[in-house]
Amino acid sequence: NQQKIKSICCIGAGYVGGPTMAVMAQRNPDIKVTVVDLNKQRIADWNDADLSKLPIFEPGLDQVVEEARGRNLFFSTEVDQAIQEAEMIFISVNTPTKTYGKGKGMAADLKYIELCARQIAEVATTDKIIVEKSTLPVKTAQAIKSILDHTGNGVKFQILSNPEFLAEGTAMTDLANPDRVLIGGEQTLEGKKAIQALVDVYATWVAKSQILTTNIWSSELSKLVANAFLAQRVSSINAISELCEATEANVEEVAKAIGMDSRIGPKFLKASVGFGGSCFQKDILNLVYIAKSLGLNQVADYWEQVILMNNHQRNRFANNIVSTLYNTVSGKKIAFLGWAFKKDTNDTRESAAIYVADRLMDERAQITVYDPKVTATQMQGDINYLNTRSESENKQYLETETDPYKALEGAHAIAVLTEWDEFKTYNWQTIYNNMSKPAFVFDGRNVLDKVELEKIGFIVQSIGK
Ligand code: UDX
Ligand code: UDX
Ligand code: ADP
Repeated sequence: NQQKIKSICCIGAGYVGGPTMAVMAQRNPDIKVTVVDLNKQRIADWNDADLSKLPIFEPGLDQVVEEARGRNLFFSTEVDQAIQEAEMIFISVNTPTKTYGKGKGMAADLKYIELCARQIAEVATTDKIIVEKSTLPVKTAQAIKSILDHTGNGVKFQILSNPEFLAEGTAMTDLANPDRVLIGGEQTLEGKKAIQALVDVYATWVAKSQILTTNIWSSELSKLVANAFLAQRVSSINAISELCEATEANVEEVAKAIGMDSRIGPKFLKASVGFGGSCFQKDILNLVYIAKSLGLNQVADYWEQVILMNNHQRNRFANNIVSTLYNTVSGKKIAFLGWAFKKDTNDTRESAAIYVADRLMDERAQITVYDPKVTATQMQGDINYLNTRSESENKQYLETETDPYKALEGAHAIAVLTEWDEFKTYNWQTIYNNMSKPAFVFDGRNVLDKVELEKIGFIVQSIGK
């Protein structure tokens, strides 16, 4: 008596829930998929007839939404009703790092998850399969289960862990062709049935050999570990970039040489101003916090170093701008190309640009930012969130331009913080003509053609060269 899922609800219409459910609905036209969120504006944006208004920018997302929306994909604020109807409920709410109390600055804040669990417990009248989609510390499933199992209304719940591995900017291709789908569940008969029900949802487009099933803890931990390993590669190559700058070595040549070793592999070896994004730092902090609370201090210290190296890389980039500009940037215009944490996304969470800007604003630099997808409001929000200075001071030191050439006009220095493709195609001669001299470029992503720019007259500093 294998269960065939007909109705799915996803709580949380963000960067994970939105694209994931869009693809799930597209590939399963006979399953009704409802994505709910408390944020009314977000849901209105998901429902906007103008697909350019979708709340998140992700290449290819608009086509999938257009195909499935209104057919079997729905966006709604009616959370209770969607919970009631669904046989399977994905929890895809945000789990930021705690900013208060025990584990402050380290542990994940699970209040949104717990609220979801309590809401499900209150509303559900039929058996449900609950799927953790958010990145969570190991053993969260147990907490959810404990809340759900004590409702006393006779409803049965199975909890699955199904971590999402999509990367922003490539979410649609990652979802369409995942390296693997990971599903963890209880190793009981009921647990295995629930796992199978979710396997069947994915099997409409993912090969069975790529769908891994494990126990819940392995699944939860694998997500943290995958992100920790990826972040570690970036910190490792960034550490080497500093060594390259102090010698005659070139980090790109080194990365290529080591990447051809099939045991190391060529991906994720791009030196940069530092990794950002909502996951890497948070997941490592989670790992560190878990290790510490288990008394595994060497394990905790080992992984914490990945974050310390990343902080160092960002500071080093900012400090280098200051020292190169004759040890003062006070009152100087520094133009940023890019604010998002990587190209092809409007997401700015933990972006290196925020921290570099903050450091330069401490030195009273006048920052002007151009990013093709990030709004001025978002940038101000990001910098205010750091609480370094008053909102009005932040407004005074950080400006946004929607035209790149205007942003760069009159600048003493340009800093590239995001690797947007369009930066390569600008008319750099014109930009040079309109800048203060000497015209400095600090390429935090190694995307610009250093030789060409130097021919024009720029003084160019890249990462690890
Ligand atoms: C290494 C490099 O692989 C090789 O390219 C270089 O030229 C010399 O150093 P080697 O020391 O001969 O080669 O063996 P290797 O297979 O790399 O193993 C090194 C150690 O790591 C061994 O003790 C091995 O048991 C251990 N190891 C390796 C693990 O514990 N786990 C692994 O997954 C791989
Ligand atoms: C990451 C994981 O890749 C994904 O599997 C997981 O589901 C969520 O976290 P994401 O944060 O969207 O995805 O982007 P990712 O491509 O991993 O990049 C993270 C950061 O590392 C970015 O700031 C990126 O610019 C930086 N990075 C990445 C480098 O600096 N160098 C690299 O070689 C790769
Ligand atoms: P992620 O990158 O994990 O998708 P986001 O912050 O982009 O994170 O999305 C999480 C979404 O979850 C937000 O839109 C937020 O409003 C929503 N959310 C948080 N708690 C609840 C809740 N209890 N019910 C419904 N939606 C929620």
